[in-house]
Amino acid sequence: MNYRTNKVVSSAPAKVILFGEHFVVYSNPAIVAAINKRISVQAQVNDKLRISIKSGENSLSVPVISKEEIITANDNSLLFLHPIFKCIKHVLSEKGLLNVGINLDIDSQIPYGEGLGSSAASCVSTVAALYSLFSNRDRNQIYETARIMEQNIHTNSSGIDCYVSTFGGIINFEPNKGFSKIRPEKKFTLLIGTTGVKHSTGKVVSQVKQFRQRNSSVFKDLSLKAHAVCKRAMNSIYEGNELELGNMLTENHKLLYTLGVSHPKIEKLIENCLDNGALGAKLTGAGKGGAIVALIPNDRSKEVLTRISRGSGKWMLVEFDYDGVVFG
Ligand code: PMV
Repeated sequence: MNYRTNKVVSSAPAKVILFGEHFVVYSNPAIVAAINKRISVQAQVNDKLRISIKSGENSLSVPVISKEEIITANDNSLLFLHPIFKCIKHVLSEKGLLNVGINLDIDSQIPYGEGLGSSAASCVSTVAALYSLFSNRDRNQIYETARIMEQNIHTNSSGIDCYVSTFGGIINFEPNKGFSKIRPEKKFTLLIGTTGVKHSTGKVVSQVKQFRQRNSSVFKDLSLKAHAVCKRAMNSIYEGNELELGNMLTENHKLLYTLGVSHPKIEKLIENCLDNGALGAKLTGAGKGGAIVALIPNDRSKEVLTRISRGSGKWMLVEFDYDGVVFG
């Protein structure tokens, strides 16, 4: 198999779940969007038969024949390199390349473990860079491979994170119908706040499962409400209705709070946003830590950000990303 010997670069965006997390696991819709924070990957073939990965201060260099357990054996703090390592092994074996190594340099703007799709973006950008070495830039194939790789980490994942990261934009996902893009009438400005509390999606999903078993009628009622919120939110995105979209975010958060997936630090960040001019705010992702998303009025974004930033939390102003995975 022929491959490029020069360095190739690709990057893929983070995601934010705007509506429907948890309820989507039980066949309800969700709205998820790519945001303009990215993971960039530089890849190059090496003749040392080693897989060498560098990400900020962290690095790993192991023989290409190593099994994935080598990552935990080396150092637990390198666990976040696991999906990347798996992607490299998978693509090399897919291409039948047993006698080349890979150097990978990763640069991430996405906080890890806070529900912003860092695993998906790392799988998508790594697969894209590796496929690019073999002159294959087909987005559908990148998505398919990244989705399979990400499912190793988030078992039972819907694949929506990889879809959004590959294709970009705002996506309405209906478990029985699939993905469709929502194109808004106007620009929206979002603020992401991170609690610094890393969460385990699997654990929180199990807790919700127990909640549902113990409180089936409450869960049914919350699901119906979440479904209705998602539908109204979709219209407000189409119409560019900031006020209604903000209200829907806050409504969705109340449902998640009742479900028991909030966290004192999430509540503090949301209160800070709502007290200081945000149009609405909610937790995003699995909850019990992680991040929140707030809608900020477009015409007063700087002023509102200044006020919110005086309170606790780490903040980043973001916009929707419509590019998805890019090369070069
Ligand atoms: O892994 P996170 O934090 O981006 O959120 C997962 C979203 C859930 O709805 C809670 C689970 C899922 O698989 O949809």
